[in-house]
Amino acid sequence: MDASDLLRGALLQLSESETVRSAVVRAPVSRAVVDRYVAGEAVPDAVGVTGELRATNRLATIDHLGEDVTDRAQAEAARDTYLALVDALTEADLARFGAAEVSVKLSAVGQSIPGDGDAIALENVRAICEAADRAGTTVTIDMEDHTRTDRTLEAVRELRADFPWVGAVLQAYLHRTEADCRDLAGAGSRVRLCKGAYNEPSSVAFQGGDVDLSYVRCLKVLMAGEGYPMVATHDPRLVEIAQALASHHQRSPDSYEFQMLLGVRAGEQKRIADRGHQMRVYVPFGADWYGYLVRRLAERPANVRFFLRSLAGS
Ligand code: FDA
Repeated sequence: MDASDLLRGALLQLSESETVRSAVVRAPVSRAVVDRYVAGEAVPDAVGVTGELRATNRLATIDHLGEDVTDRAQAEAARDTYLALVDALTEADLARFGAAEVSVKLSAVGQSIPGDGDAIALENVRAICEAADRAGTTVTIDMEDHTRTDRTLEAVRELRADFPWVGAVLQAYLHRTEADCRDLAGAGSRVRLCKGAYNEPSSVAFQGGDVDLSYVRCLKVLMAGEGYPMVATHDPRLVEIAQALASHHQRSPDSYEFQMLLGVRAGEQKRIADRGHQMRVYVPFGADWYGYLVRRLAERPANVRFFLRSLAGS
């Protein structure tokens, strides 16, 4: 394990500390740090950023920030924000043909509520899927830490009975994921493959360079399958390998897509779109940016220096 792996682990652990969270959220963090990765706090901010992305031929998947909600009213409020978002996208003519879709974390819409959390989350996300269906767009269910993988994939399976276009997310760092790719590589199955952003133990997850090797194995399965792979990475080597595999399997440009996060490698996003590939940007918005931001900082040590400088107000 090298120094950046240690830093990443320490940061991800901090992201789970309530004391650190409240100190950082109250600190005069420079808006520049948050603004780089987050579209703003309200629905019109997300729609505005999505419109700008469309102007450079990029698609969007929009996430309302929030996770680990344990209160039913809050979970319903998150659902209602998604419903307002889908309406606003329709109004701005950004939803049709999936130009802008939404990404939802089940823990934001009730999965963590003790007792019947899974059922509450499913009911809320179903309402979001119904709205997306009417608007002509899609929903992708984000993947959280490994304790939720089975429950999340089960929810995807249930939703797909009515909305076959619901997207799943698989994390290449988990030992189980290559097998999950085989299960989910069937016709029409939308699967976003990412490396994985949580602090996972070596009992369930590959560490260091082994994550990239697993990503390639998973990509091979998805690209050879009949589904719709969504290649979510900023890693130039993996983007190149994905392109080579797509050509090898004679996939047309509309049978897969690349995905990157808002604020990360924007120049490369435009270049990929300009080369005629589908390029979708993950656009988070909302006031609850802390957990998301710390995961982004953990991905790149240089970001931590930027963040600490801004905390110091320099
Ligand atoms: P890696 O972290 O190795 O980065 C490769 C290169 O990209 C870096 O060297 C750097 O140049 C650049 N880079 C990467 N991250 C950066 C950052 N934050 N700031 C600046 N530069 C950066 N995870 C998860 O667990 N569940 C999920 O549902 C999702 N959903 C999701 C959607 C989309 C569209 C994307 C792109 C990613 C996710 N992720 C996710 C996050 C994912 O698991 C992973 O943590 C990040 O994408 C970073 O991994 P890379 O594949 O980019 O490689």
